[in-house]
Amino acid sequence: MKKININAPSRNYDVFIGNNVINKYSSKINSLAGYNDSIIIVDSNVYRLHKEKIESMIKGLKGNVVVYKFKADEKNKSLDSLKKIFDLMLRKNLGRSSFLIALGGGITGDLGGFAASVYARGIGYIHIPTTLLAMVDSAIGGKTGINYGHTKNIIGSFYQPESVLIDTEFIKTLPRDELLCGLGEVIKYGLLIGDDFFDYVAKNYRKAFDYNYSFLNKVIRESVSLKGSIVEKDENEKSGLRKILNLGHTFAHAIEVEQNHKIKHGQAVIAGIACALHLSNKLGMMNDEYLEKYLSLIIEFRNEIKLKQYNPETLYKIMFRDKKNKKGSINFVLLEKAGKLIIDAEADKRDALYAINNGLQYFCE
Ligand SMILES: NC(=O)c1ccc[n+]([C@@H]2O[C@H](COP(=O)([O-])OP(=O)(O)OC[C@H]3O[C@@H](n4cnc5c(N)ncnc54)[C@H](O)[C@@H]3O)[C@@H](O)[C@H]2O)c1
Repeated sequence: MKKININAPSRNYDVFIGNNVINKYSSKINSLAGYNDSIIIVDSNVYRLHKEKIESMIKGLKGNVVVYKFKADEKNKSLDSLKKIFDLMLRKNLGRSSFLIALGGGITGDLGGFAASVYARGIGYIHIPTTLLAMVDSAIGGKTGINYGHTKNIIGSFYQPESVLIDTEFIKTLPRDELLCGLGEVIKYGLLIGDDFFDYVAKNYRKAFDYNYSFLNKVIRESVSLKGSIVEKDENEKSGLRKILNLGHTFAHAIEVEQNHKIKHGQAVIAGIACALHLSNKLGMMNDEYLEKYLSLIIEFRNEIKLKQYNPETLYKIMFRDKKNKKGSINFVLLEKAGKLIIDAEADKRDALYAINNGLQYFCE
C-alpha cells in the first residue's frame, strides 16, 4: 500500500492507494473522518457490482450508517439529487457530527463532496473513487460541484476530503470505455509532467485494458502526486498554477454539452486535448514535430470515440460562456511541449474554430 500526503492550505490529508484498501481500513474510517454517524453516497451500479465488498466495509463502520444509492449520470449530478440527499440526512438526524462517504466515480465524488461542503456548513467526507478517472484525477484536489441548466460544474465549492481511499480492486469491473476515460486524464498528466512520463504512457497504455496492475498503480501514483503537489501550491486556482490541470478541458466541457452528454467526460478530454494541441500549434507555441508526436497517441483512440455531427459555432458559444473566461476572450491552457504549459493563452474565434475542426476531425463518423 502506498500513502501520499497532500498538505493543502485548508486541510492536510492522506491518499491511500492499494488493493482492498477499504476493507483493510474499514475499522479506521471513523477515526480518519473524526466522527461516528455517516451517510454513504454510492453509485448504484458500483453497489451492485461490489455488494459484498461494500457491505463488509459498512460492517466495519461505527455509529448509524445511512446509505443513499443513485444512478450516477450527469443528469443526476443535480440540485434535485442534492435535495434528496439533504432530505434523507435530515430524516435520519445526521447533524454536524456526522460525515459523508462518496463511493463511486467522478459524478458521485463531485455530488457527494458538494453535499458535504454545504450540509450543516460543512461536514467531513471520505472519498472512495471507483473509476480510473476518479482515482487519477477527480478524487484529488477538492473540486466539488453539480451541473445546472446546460452548464457543467457551475455550482460547487473547493472542499478537501478528510482522506481518499483508492482501492484498486474496483478497477477489475471497469468496462473498456471507462478505462479509456481514465486514460484520457492519464494522457493529460503525461503532457503536464513531461516527455518521460508521456512516453511511458504512450508505450504502455494498452496494459490498462489488460488490467495490468503494475501499469495502473504507476499511473495512479504519478497522477495523484502531481495533482497533490499542484493543489498544495494553488488550492483554489488563484495563482494560476492549478489552471494547468484544465488542459483540454475548455474544449472537453463544451463537447460534452454540445453532444448532449452522449460522450463521456474522459472521451471528451481526449478529443479536447487534440483541439488544444492543434491550437498550440496554430498559435506558434508548439512545433510540428511535437504536434505529430502527441497526436500520434491521441489518434490511437479514433475508433473508440465517436462524435455525432457537431456544430462548431455552438461549441464556440458554449466555450465562450465557460466560467474560466475573462471578458471578451476565451482563455486556454496550451503547451509548447510536455511539461511546458502556457496558461491564459488567448485565441480569437477563427483560431478556436480551427482548433475545434482540426481536433475533432479524428472522431467524426
Ligand atoms: N472534481 C474534479 O476535479 C473532477 C475532475 C475530472 C472529472 N470530474 C467529473 O467527474 C465526472 C466523470 O467521472 P467518471 O468518469 O468517474 O464517471 P462516473 O462517475 O459517471 O462513472 C462512469 C461509469 O462507470 C460506472 N462505474 C463506476 N465505478 C465502477 C466500477 N468500479 N466498475 C464498473 N463500473 C463502474 C458508473 O456507474 C458510471 O456508469 C464528470 O462529471 C466530471 O465533470 C471532476
